[in-house]
Amino acid sequence: MDDRLNKRMAMLSREVAEVRIYEETDSTNSEAKRYAVSGGRAPALFLADRQTAGRGRLGRSFYSPEGTGLYMSLLLPAKAELTDTVLMTSAAAVAVRRAILSVTGIDTGIKWVNDLYLDGRKVCGILCELLGTEKMIIVGVGINLSDGGFPEDIAHIAGSLGITDPDGALRDTLAARCVKELTSVWETLGDGDLIDEYKKHSTILGNEVIYTENGVSRSGLAVDIDSRGRLIIEDAEGINRVLASGEISVRPSKR
Ligand code: BTN
Repeated sequence: MDDRLNKRMAMLSREVAEVRIYEETDSTNSEAKRYAVSGGRAPALFLADRQTAGRGRLGRSFYSPEGTGLYMSLLLPAKAELTDTVLMTSAAAVAVRRAILSVTGIDTGIKWVNDLYLDGRKVCGILCELLGTEKMIIVGVGINLSDGGFPEDIAHIAGSLGITDPDGALRDTLAARCVKELTSVWETLGDGDLIDEYKKHSTILGNEVIYTENGVSRSGLAVDIDSRGRLIIEDAEGINRVLASGEISVRPSKR
């Protein structure tokens, strides 16, 4: 193992016993899954310099070139009461937001469910996957540290933290901090304070949003996020709808 890799391993091993670092892999979430399925133990951390098949929510891909981003997955033991990933997804957004703020001083907003935004652009995506048989959860985090030029299909929405990190030191510090914060929110999952913090930094509450339900595009006012991380939307008739998953976009309020 070369000296630099040794140092990275030593630093990250302070946070979690099992650390695997890849120059290139298909997806750190997939690495975590393969490790878990083959009998590996949680907690464990998977980090890659680049991903060839980075995955996002709703079957999307996550652009993961070398040198401009942090791509990591944390494998945690699942909690008995956890039957879906919505709450952990919201908690993960709070945790990663805290990590970014403490390491870089940059204050990002949370767009339901789990995207972090800066100046109207997505700078971080989170993909939580529950492994029912292994009783583990994978929390995958992708952060755009700098902008090396985004592909055309995401150029209108993607942004970065605007950080120059030539030797990757900040990336590792941020990864270590994410592990710390994710582990901490995992321990206090279900705690009301976490949702309060989530709501405080939400970019959508109070806005008219457009969402898709059963293939139908609808709109309404985002009025609240409940204790399970679900979005409450008030429709034009004043009826509240509860959204547990999916994608929303904000449009200027007409009310
Ligand atoms: C999203 O934006 O929908 C979620 C993106 C999650 C990307 C991260 S990068 C590290 C980990 N490995 C993956 O394949 N996906 C997550």
